[in-house]
Amino acid sequence: MSDSQFTIAIDGPAAAGKGTISKAVAARFGFAHLDTGLLYRAVGRRTLQGLEPIAAAQALTPEELEQGDLRTAEIAKTASKVAVIPEVRAALVDFQRAFARRSGGAVLDGRDIGTVICPEAEVKLFVTASPEVRAERRYLELSAKGSDITREQVLLDVRERDARDAERSAAPMKPAEDAVLLDTSDLSIESALAQAVEVIEKARPAKS
Ligand code: DC
Repeated sequence: MSDSQFTIAIDGPAAAGKGTISKAVAARFGFAHLDTGLLYRAVGRRTLQGLEPIAAAQALTPEELEQGDLRTAEIAKTASKVAVIPEVRAALVDFQRAFARRSGGAVLDGRDIGTVICPEAEVKLFVTASPEVRAERRYLELSAKGSDITREQVLLDVRERDARDAERSAAPMKPAEDAVLLDTSDLSIESALAQAVEVIEKARPAKS
């Protein structure tokens, strides 16, 4: 590891708090952040527009991640479906690995960062929470954006997506053997963040 390379892998299911923790940790340590779910969401959006998923993944550009709203319930579901295709995953590996090892430090959040994309990450966290708590958080997020989806539907979507993400054979969602588990079901954002920061601080090389 060069002095300036330091990768934090944050995996876990939808709406467990990965995104919030990842952004806050990146800001605190001055690291770059990649929400890898956006890659699969962008491929999902292209697929909904009629493209073939493997071709869409191979042609994906970083600019697409910034365009429009990728955080809709429909795109999330399609993202989870295209994410089971090994060739889609393979097309996205190099970009994620290069990002992980960029100089200056990187935080990547997703499902397979600590297991497949960056097993050598200096810090691995697996952030989770009960399906009910996650569904409630996602419901509040989607309704704040004007969606008329019901709580029941969000819980069904969360359970269906968990099952698909965890049971697929290509890079299933699971904690790396050496990941630190962080259950945010009963934690405030502040406490969850404090616990994540503590784990990271322990793994940081001591400054001389
Ligand atoms: O984190 P998210 O909800 O934005 O992810 C959307 C979908 O993308 C998720 O259901 C599964 C897939 N995904 C994946 O397979 N691997 C990742 N590293 C990130 C996301």
